[in-house]
Amino acid sequence: MSAGNPTSLAEVATPALLLDRDRLEANIRRMEMRATQLGVELRPHLKTTKSVDVARLAAPSGRITVSTLREAEYFAQHGFRDIFYAVAINPQKLGRVGALLAQGVRLLISLDDPAVAAQVAQAGRALGLVFPVMIEIDSGEERSGVDAASPDLLAIVDALRSGAQVAGVFTHGGHSYLGRSIEEHQAVAEQERVAVTTAAARLRAHGCGNDLIVSLGSTPTVNHARNLTGVTEARPGVYMVYDLFQWDVGACGPDDLALSVLTSVIGQHPSRSQLVIDAGAIALSKDLGTHGPEDHAVPAYGLIADAQTGQLIADLHVHTVYQEHGIVRSQRPIDFSAFPVGRQLRVYMNHACLTAAAFDQFHVVQADNPEIALWDRVNGW
Ligand SMILES: Cc1ncc(COP(=O)(O)O)c(C=O)c1O
Repeated sequence: MSAGNPTSLAEVATPALLLDRDRLEANIRRMEMRATQLGVELRPHLKTTKSVDVARLAAPSGRITVSTLREAEYFAQHGFRDIFYAVAINPQKLGRVGALLAQGVRLLISLDDPAVAAQVAQAGRALGLVFPVMIEIDSGEERSGVDAASPDLLAIVDALRSGAQVAGVFTHGGHSYLGRSIEEHQAVAEQERVAVTTAAARLRAHGCGNDLIVSLGSTPTVNHARNLTGVTEARPGVYMVYDLFQWDVGACGPDDLALSVLTSVIGQHPSRSQLVIDAGAIALSKDLGTHGPEDHAVPAYGLIADAQTGQLIADLHVHTVYQEHGIVRSQRPIDFSAFPVGRQLRVYMNHACLTAAAFDQFHVVQADNPEIALWDRVNGW
């Protein structure tokens, strides 16, 4: 921690990305308990936090998932050696993947296409490397991945026979975000489980060996899965910090929200019943909340909380965003004397991953610790 760290929020230039370390650690502990109950290893997804300080807390095993090669390179530089890059590989990037493999990093790449599998194997032979490959299975989200019963699955395996090696199968039941009840999340978790265990069984019967990684996960499905028999690892990510969207889908409660944007009031307009803050579309993203539980049913770009306590201020929400301006309104009359220009506030965001991507660092706050730590993040590709 450098000598120059701020010791009060008043010293922090806004907008800034605030991370509540107590909530972060509680969220991490709860997910570790879930993984233990379910009998799976955790391979946390760092796509939201993109921070080595967070990774050291969330992934003491050193086993992580990332969403960009830039993240893989950054975590490798910081000593992580078991990294799964869980976005379909663009063969153009195999040189960068090969460089990490040559440094001794076990970088698992993913694909879902026999032609790409052939290109990967050919590149492996040309570079004298063996690319470890996770085959993506679709479990109902219909984003990427092959069907567990598809002939393409075995065609991919056949294309990977030399220059590459099948490390396992994975799926992401992102359609869990459409559910709003525990039963719906449980049903998607079971779709994920059936998809990857079916695919793994086909691979074993096709000569792929018995030590395949069988990987699944989204935060709502891992939070609510009843049973993960046959699965070896889970890859939730946003659970470390949560966001309003995860609250909306029932994956967390308001006291679990660990990430917020520290902002300042920069204007008051009682005649328009609105405040202006210095967090707009860049700082918050334009991801609009979905349905919202009853206590924040208004579509908004974020909910306003007290800067010091992090407690929500009833009804106050970000109604409109411009590039650098946010317009704050309420369903009730606003007491403008309580919100002078310069007052700091927190904004809980709809989508933590997109909001965080606008910031290069976290300002880390913790009860009983007056010093605000600065933790780096890695953005870009
Ligand atoms: C492939 C993959 N695995 C895991 C996750 C983590 O899911 P969540 O953000 O719900 O924790 C994601 C999120 O997008 C993903 O794309």
